[in-house]
Amino acid sequence: MAKYLVQKSNPLSGEVEISGAKNAVLPIMAAALLSEEECTLFDVPALRDVDVLTQLLTHIGAVIKKADTNTLNIYTPKINTYEAPFELVKKMRASFLVAGPLLARTGHARVYMPGGCTIGARPVELHLKGFQAMGAEIINNEIKSFVEMSCDRLQGASIYLDFPSVGATENIMMAAVLAEGTTIIENAAEEPEIVDLANFLNKMGARVKGAGTETIKIEGVEKLGGCKHGIIPDRIETGTFMVAAAITRGEILIKNAVPDHVKAITAKLIECGVVVEKTDEGLLVKGNVNPLVSTNIKTMPYPGFPTDIQSPFMALLTTVEGSSVVIENIFENRFMHVAELNRMGANIKIDGRSAIIYGGRPLQGAQVISTDLRAGAAMVLAGLVAEGTTEIAEIYHIERGYENFVEKFRKLGATIIRIDD
Ligand code: UD1
Repeated sequence: MAKYLVQKSNPLSGEVEISGAKNAVLPIMAAALLSEEECTLFDVPALRDVDVLTQLLTHIGAVIKKADTNTLNIYTPKINTYEAPFELVKKMRASFLVAGPLLARTGHARVYMPGGCTIGARPVELHLKGFQAMGAEIINNEIKSFVEMSCDRLQGASIYLDFPSVGATENIMMAAVLAEGTTIIENAAEEPEIVDLANFLNKMGARVKGAGTETIKIEGVEKLGGCKHGIIPDRIETGTFMVAAAITRGEILIKNAVPDHVKAITAKLIECGVVVEKTDEGLLVKGNVNPLVSTNIKTMPYPGFPTDIQSPFMALLTTVEGSSVVIENIFENRFMHVAELNRMGANIKIDGRSAIIYGGRPLQGAQVISTDLRAGAAMVLAGLVAEGTTEIAEIYHIERGYENFVEKFRKLGATIIRIDD
């Protein structure tokens, strides 16, 4: 299996360019299934997850061409199958996002239960409740582990989400754009990726209003056309490099960052003593101005602190004197990186959904595992400040969601190499 070897590095400095957002491009690619016409996507990050979804959409009937490294043309004149097979779905939970478009376009979807990061139970009942409210019949085949959904034309409905699930909001939006009548999603997720999806759908001819607020209104239309769309910059990659500047006590200009999308991360870094400046090109993050201090974080749905930056931020908190508390409210099992950080010499105790970090103990290089995508990034960050060499296994998680990760870090002065299988 491929690995990363990370050496203690000098403070990172220089510029990094943020790629298109993984969590925006995946639902948008799935949404391209809603039209018979060609959709062109720009700023598509070259990621494993994008490749997996490309395979799944191709299996379903899409003709996908890579015009260049970051441009995809997706054209689905005909749906060949409404089934998303286990071999593809197991590789990535976001595969479940084809359910809404398939149901809307063909009246059928059979999707095997998703895989992806091992960060706790990740049910899909909120997605299904939404489809059901729109008139779909749902059969949950627990023995074969698939969900079968069918309907005549979906009907607009009022849907209240018990939790503002990102995936459920996206799936319901995609189903509702071709439904008969108006759908209202209450307690919808407000993430920037939801807004990007709504903008894409509206360019295709959909009528979606209120994306980015807790109430989204979708007036169904008969048909959608093709369009051209650029994916928003990745706020989680932005946050990762912001934390990289802080943990190495360096200075990084993060080009292309959208400051409004990283307000919670910015606020917490400033509390720690990091200087964050908006520039014409993006964000300049300085971890070398003040001595850094501890802080507490609590993950919340957007605009709260993102769960995806919880583990990188925890790596940072191990390097500052004093104790910090991290509360994980979104996923039930998202502390697997704690054992890995402790293996490197950190002192972190878990108590239910809280982790208490007793910071300031020097980290030591060790053999660690990238237990999920963002935890892998946290290991790299910890490795940059740990004495000696940190060997990170199971890096396929990292490569699912970060474009040119090693190259970007090396350009900033990090000593990191990828060792092939
Ligand atoms: C998306 C992101 C992921 C991020 C997460 C939370 C993508 C491709 N992935 O994942 O990077 O960490 O948002 O910001 O965009 N839940 C239910 N029932 C459901 C659906 C969700 O209980 O039907 C629970 C989940 O188990 C989890 C929480 O809600 O505990 C958040 O899940 P959700 O917002 O749906 O995250 P994803 O869309 O899977």
